[in-house]
Amino acid sequence: MDSRRILVTGGAGYIGSQTVRLLLEQGHDVTVVDNLSKGYRHNVPAGRLFELNIADTAALAGLMRRMRPQAVIHFAAFIAVGESMREPARYFTNNLGGSLSLLTAMVETGVRHMVFSSTAAVYGDPPSSPILETFPIKAVNPYGESKVMVETLLRWFDEIHRLTSVSLRYFNASGADPAGHLGEEHDPETHLIPLLFRAILTGQPITVFGADYPTPDGTCVRDYIHVDDLAQAHILSLEYLLNGGASDQFNVGTGAGHTVLEMIKVVEEVTGKKVPYVIGPRREGDSPSLVADPSKLRSRLAWQPRYGDLKTIIEHAWKFASSHSK
Ligand code: UFG
Repeated sequence: MDSRRILVTGGAGYIGSQTVRLLLEQGHDVTVVDNLSKGYRHNVPAGRLFELNIADTAALAGLMRRMRPQAVIHFAAFIAVGESMREPARYFTNNLGGSLSLLTAMVETGVRHMVFSSTAAVYGDPPSSPILETFPIKAVNPYGESKVMVETLLRWFDEIHRLTSVSLRYFNASGADPAGHLGEEHDPETHLIPLLFRAILTGQPITVFGADYPTPDGTCVRDYIHVDDLAQAHILSLEYLLNGGASDQFNVGTGAGHTVLEMIKVVEEVTGKKVPYVIGPRREGDSPSLVADPSKLRSRLAWQPRYGDLKTIIEHAWKFASSHSK
């Protein structure tokens, strides 16, 4: 792909920073917008970060006029399912309101393409597995609903303003930069893999949220996708849109599901250490099983995961976690 000017919101976060790294490696000119409410300055190469809240439409439009991006990759959002069940307004304000502000600035300044960070949570409790993009959209928590709403905004901005977009419905982003520099460091951490490592490192048991689901061992099934393969899906989506591709939605997952207890086993294998855990009640808003059918992304955008193997994902994540633990 030719060198492009790309604006990335949320580029200081876990998935955003990996995508920025890949974009730069592939020769693109990248500007990052992040208010550092969740992301980290150290995740963004010097000189590329603009500390802005995406709710500030005028500031975003000003930046877009100066840098003239050809497309936007929009990551900036709150992501914790459990928290969204307690504080829905924050999720709608930040995720929906922020996206609307960003789209308004794009229309005002003539930026015509967006790759949007959507989620498997748009499917809620799917009727069967693996999940196809044509399955009913029915979120079961405000986090997922906020992403459904942005996908709806995107449909209307295409219809009315001819702004084309790709919504990437991520399954469980995991792993770390293979070189071990960038990885998952949410605060507070709610995600399974870093919490399994924390349990090993501190000796404090992790709580497995529910062992009475209708799954092989009673714990929830998820599709863990390496963050580098996820980042690559954004770059392929950009190329697709910039070559005139129509708006579309794609699942980004591996197609393989793993229960929480299986994850514990693989983490123990990779680290050579026991994970202390207790079984607790279900977490509100959790779906029993979310596994992707990624064939649309493979066939339409020629996406090929490089790190599909769960052991590799955990190895990369462990390399990062064990060298960055506080
Ligand atoms: N889990 C535990 N104990 C914990 C943390 C997690 O048992 O302390 C379980 C959860 O119940 C779930 C699985 O581990 O079954 C994975 O949980 P995560 O919190 O790591 O991830 P989620 O599946 O809840 O959510 C992630 C992203 C969302 C995205 C979703 C789509 O955080 O943004 O995947 O699958 F929407």
